[in-house]
Amino acid sequence: MRNWKSFSAAIVLIASVRGMAQTGYDEATKVFRLDGGNVTYAFGVNPRGELEQLYWGGRLAATDHIGPAVPAPEWASFDSSYSTTPQEYAGWGAGLFVEPALKVTFADGNRDLVLHYDHHEITSDGFNVVLKDIKRQVFVTLHYAIDPASGILARSATIENREAQPVTIEQAAAAAWALPAGHYTLDYLTGRWAGEWTLTQEDLHPGERVIESRRGSTGHQANPWFAIQAGERPDENSGEVWFGALAWSGSWRITVERDQLDAIRVTGGFNPFDFGYVLHPGERLETPEFYGGYSAHGLGGASRLLHQYELAHILPHRVGSGENAAPKPRPVIYNSWEATEFNVNEQGQIALAEKAAALGVNRFVMDDGWFGQRKNDHAGLGDWYVNPEKFPHGLKPLIDKVHALGMDFGLWVEPEMVNPDSDLYRQHPDWVLNFPGRPRSEQRNQLVLNLARPDVRDYVFGFLDKLLTENDIAFLKWDYNRNWSEPGWDQLPPAEQKEVYVAFVRNLYGILDELKKKHPNVEFESCSGGGGRVDLGILQYADEVWTSDNTDPFDRLTQQDGFTYAYTPQIMMAWVTDSPHWLNHRSTSLTYRMLSSMQGSLGIGANIAKWNDEEMATAKRLIATYHQVQKTIAQGDLYRLISPRDGSEFSATQTVNGDKSQSVVFVFIHSTQEGRGFPLLKLKGLDPAGDYVLTPIEGALKKGSPTTASGAWWMNHGLETSDDFKGDFQAAAFRLDKK
Ligand code: GLA
Repeated sequence: MRNWKSFSAAIVLIASVRGMAQTGYDEATKVFRLDGGNVTYAFGVNPRGELEQLYWGGRLAATDHIGPAVPAPEWASFDSSYSTTPQEYAGWGAGLFVEPALKVTFADGNRDLVLHYDHHEITSDGFNVVLKDIKRQVFVTLHYAIDPASGILARSATIENREAQPVTIEQAAAAAWALPAGHYTLDYLTGRWAGEWTLTQEDLHPGERVIESRRGSTGHQANPWFAIQAGERPDENSGEVWFGALAWSGSWRITVERDQLDAIRVTGGFNPFDFGYVLHPGERLETPEFYGGYSAHGLGGASRLLHQYELAHILPHRVGSGENAAPKPRPVIYNSWEATEFNVNEQGQIALAEKAAALGVNRFVMDDGWFGQRKNDHAGLGDWYVNPEKFPHGLKPLIDKVHALGMDFGLWVEPEMVNPDSDLYRQHPDWVLNFPGRPRSEQRNQLVLNLARPDVRDYVFGFLDKLLTENDIAFLKWDYNRNWSEPGWDQLPPAEQKEVYVAFVRNLYGILDELKKKHPNVEFESCSGGGGRVDLGILQYADEVWTSDNTDPFDRLTQQDGFTYAYTPQIMMAWVTDSPHWLNHRSTSLTYRMLSSMQGSLGIGANIAKWNDEEMATAKRLIATYHQVQKTIAQGDLYRLISPRDGSEFSATQTVNGDKSQSVVFVFIHSTQEGRGFPLLKLKGLDPAGDYVLTPIEGALKKGSPTTASGAWWMNHGLETSDDFKGDFQAAAFRLDKK
């Protein structure tokens, strides 16, 4: 009998302090296997030559035998085996009725593409498996890499045309994932401007659920993340979950299909809507990465794996090296937008900076309004010179003052946009996305520069490079305040103009990459009218994101809850702003606002010029406390103990740091009813044998509760808040430190 260890082919062991990965290929059975964390993934070459998925789930024993791959039998003459076999990357041809991973048209009109295994190579953390069309010289290299710690797979594809004629790609996925027939629940994130990050959950019904953006960028309306839970009753901390996230900031699509035999297939990559990419002989197209993971511990377990993966492998690393490299906890920022909107000037900003410094803020960020003729949102975008009326001596006096106050300086830019009322547009009306002779639809009075054009790319890189070279700027808030319309690119032949969807995003990434190389200490925030451009593609360059323009602290609890299913609190910027809130007219205490924002990476965005001594003292005290526990909150393991969703009366989160020496708990009351107090809170993730000292950050424990107890006590007996903890929009927070 064969076992995994006896495989004749190379087995690569990748050991690390975080975990162990093992990848191997068995020549006899033609099975590829990847093991990492608590996950095993396997696929094989079936007798027809297709690459077929065999297993994705909890880690199997090294001795377990997987495969060989056997194609699904023909169910009926209407459902060919080619369609029902869970192919790793199916070409559209041979009667494929499910989503293809790749669909092409050859120069002679042939549209049949059948991809078979050709050869492979073993890499340090996975495989490159090369497929080839059964007749033509179209090659697809599938890249697989598994993370030894989390078992998260990174998959992508490179499509290459070695024909003598061009090939047009009409649809290209990064990867397809399969699950066996069963009942599942689908989770995904939906929303709108000021209402991003709604966790949407539904039974996975027969048919296809399409999650997508056709907007040219990631979008507020849906986010390129999914989770599929086994069974119909999703649980936060138990049950099997398969999840994935697509690293692309352009138009994207993820389809989740339940076929006629109840099997599941998830396919994701470039959005095929209005897509066309001409590969000339010898050219290649690389897809984005599609990451996929598995947890046996519910959505909570899934998001903890994804957070750790983002921290270790996606986000720019700023401190440490090797295994210990990690993103730097975010500075506490002050941002002037809600205080002044476009009315920025030297004196006003200096006055705000003085008060921000007094609060213990680390970074002062001037938002929109400082450049060109930017009096409001009708003019100025594109003209990136300092407005001489507002800043007669340039930015230097303000930046110097901010530095003298002990903070670093950040600035708002919106590089890809132009107002028709700008010098740039008057000089280069052809630089925007447009179809010649057609109207140019404005949104927020602005048009989108066609970043795919080399001249536009050079202009955008040039002004940003100059800005960063001439000024001591530590941080750029990179905004993007509309989606595409009329996405024409008339510099190219008509058949190639749709390549704008790929070229635009590649140039965006290229600019960020080059800026970071030239200005390695500058940090970036990805903002798009709030959370409209958050994905694992932009997060390779952006240190943080603007979660939402909605800064209402109560709305934010649900948004932050949704956000953390896919993204780590490290990048989740959360400002404390004024009350009553501009959006909901809701009044909340400063403490409530502070604690809501402290769930993520804290910032202040209120008009602090008007804050009284008491408000200043409260904020100062809580910022100082935040600094002490920030790393745990931002980079620890997050447990969503009570969800704020669906109008919940209460909500609670808890974060535990890597060595379980510290934990931070936030509890919120929406509105107590019938005198009920906050429920008993059973904590999670602590060391049961360790003793933890509980210190209130805000609020109090029930009279008589111990303040020192074992991890087992806090997890099994639970934490009881004070009987007085009642009312509307109340908040408390506690820290636990291991003795
Ligand atoms: C967007 C951002 C805001 C602010 C404004 C400025 O809406 O999300 O935070 O920067 O633009 O115009």
